[in-house]
Amino acid sequence: MVDNYAVFGNPIAHSKSPRIHTLFGEQTGGAVEYGAICSEPEEFAQDVMMFLVAGGKGCNVTVPYKQEAWELADELSDYAARAKAVNTLAFSEDGTMVGYNTDGIGIVRDLQQNHGIALQGKRILLLGAGGAVRGVLQPLLEAQPASLFIANRTASKALELAQDFAEFGKVSGGGFADIDGQFDLIINGTAASLQGELPPLPAGCLAADGCTYDMMYSAKPTAFVAWGRAQGAAQSLDGLGMLVEQAAEAFFIWRGVRPSTAPVLAQLREELSRQ
Ligand code: ATR
Repeated sequence: MVDNYAVFGNPIAHSKSPRIHTLFGEQTGGAVEYGAICSEPEEFAQDVMMFLVAGGKGCNVTVPYKQEAWELADELSDYAARAKAVNTLAFSEDGTMVGYNTDGIGIVRDLQQNHGIALQGKRILLLGAGGAVRGVLQPLLEAQPASLFIANRTASKALELAQDFAEFGKVSGGGFADIDGQFDLIINGTAASLQGELPPLPAGCLAADGCTYDMMYSAKPTAFVAWGRAQGAAQSLDGLGMLVEQAAEAFFIWRGVRPSTAPVLAQLREELSRQ
């Protein structure tokens, strides 16, 4: 018996999730089939229901349906409830859908475990205030940074997010012009990087020995990764590791087995470099 999973999104053709989960399946010796389903607007919920009825065990959800998946879920994990976004649905035998958000766990594991970047006591600057940032805020704050400043083009959205997550730690928000002082870690969660653009960052905002992290990734260094290198970051990383780690957490939720991520990340990086 093969266990069926899939990722839902639109567009979805370039998703790396099928590759990642196939590698996890091979590594853990389970019979895993993992597909990619492009849902048309208005059809996402119906597509997921059909997948469940056809015997699917669970699914991942990506742009632009994470919020719809949050609405669709019968039950929510703590992180998903707060994030108002679901990237992982697990289906129970009785058809109940439980929604999780593993994005925040993904970035925290990639930073701390894969790259040895401790977050406790650090000054973090988080760029952007959209869905991607909302999804990672709680786990980042639970790692107990000294402070976390959310800077966004539309300052009001950053302020709102900071208010929403205030109970989890020392978080504040504002516009790019409000960025003040130096940071040990600067994380880019804006979509700017994908367009080859950079958020306007003041000179000298990265502390000596500070690191930079782009939640996006691409075959060539993203604009933000290149900026981090130019600033002399101790490590300037992209989000491929976060992608693999969020997938590993989803795999664990579904199958109770934790795959080893390092070989899968190395393989993906190698495949990406050949694209
Ligand atoms: P996602 O789910 O990927 O976070 P989103 O919710 O549409 O997508 O949010 C996109 C984020 O990227 C927002 O923070 C957006 O800033 P605004 O809230 O001001 O729109 C940010 N963004 C997009 N393009 C940008 C650019 N060229 N420069 C700076 N920020 C940008």
